[in-house]
Amino acid sequence: MTAPRSIRNIALCGFMGTGKSSVGRLVAEQLRFAFLDTDTVIEARAGKNISQIFEEQGEPAFRDLEKRIVKELGSRDRTVISVGGGLVVDPENLASLKEHALVVCLWASPETIWLRVKNQNHRPLLKEGDPLENIRRLLTERGPFYKQANVLLSTELRSPREVAQQVLHQFRIARTAPIAH
Ligand code: S3P
Repeated sequence: MTAPRSIRNIALCGFMGTGKSSVGRLVAEQLRFAFLDTDTVIEARAGKNISQIFEEQGEPAFRDLEKRIVKELGSRDRTVISVGGGLVVDPENLASLKEHALVVCLWASPETIWLRVKNQNHRPLLKEGDPLENIRRLLTERGPFYKQANVLLSTELRSPREVAQQVLHQFRIARTAPIAH
């Protein structure tokens, strides 16, 4: 049997545009937890934005930066962590997050995601080719990884505030009845 985890934090994962940052901020506010966004930490450390990192150093270098941050997150307490959309595709990253956090994956259909992100231009993976097709392909590839989260929540037809309430509910349940990895 696996030892019960010590759930001190909440990690929000899921595809771009599922509302991880807005929901994460609301959850952190309610719990009086700190809020941390892995992309923001990477940008601050690199001194450039995500698009520049992809352009100048390539995606593998970006994934290395993500991995480094995930390793440091184990020392966090009372923190809501919003992770970049591709971070949990690396099973080591997901396993590491599960050591200290309830990992909640936010979900939406490709069409909903497209509606939410189409007026934004800071995501390098959606800049090439047909963005809706890219979203469909990436979601299909990543679906099996996202489904490894402790909790999967649909954000369809729900406001960030409603999704935040669901996250809080799941966190309270998990804290009273700790689950195995
Ligand atoms: C990515 C998602 C982005 C960011 C980078 C790569 C991905 O984060 O990490 O552009 O691979 O899905 P958000 O999910 O916060 O947009």
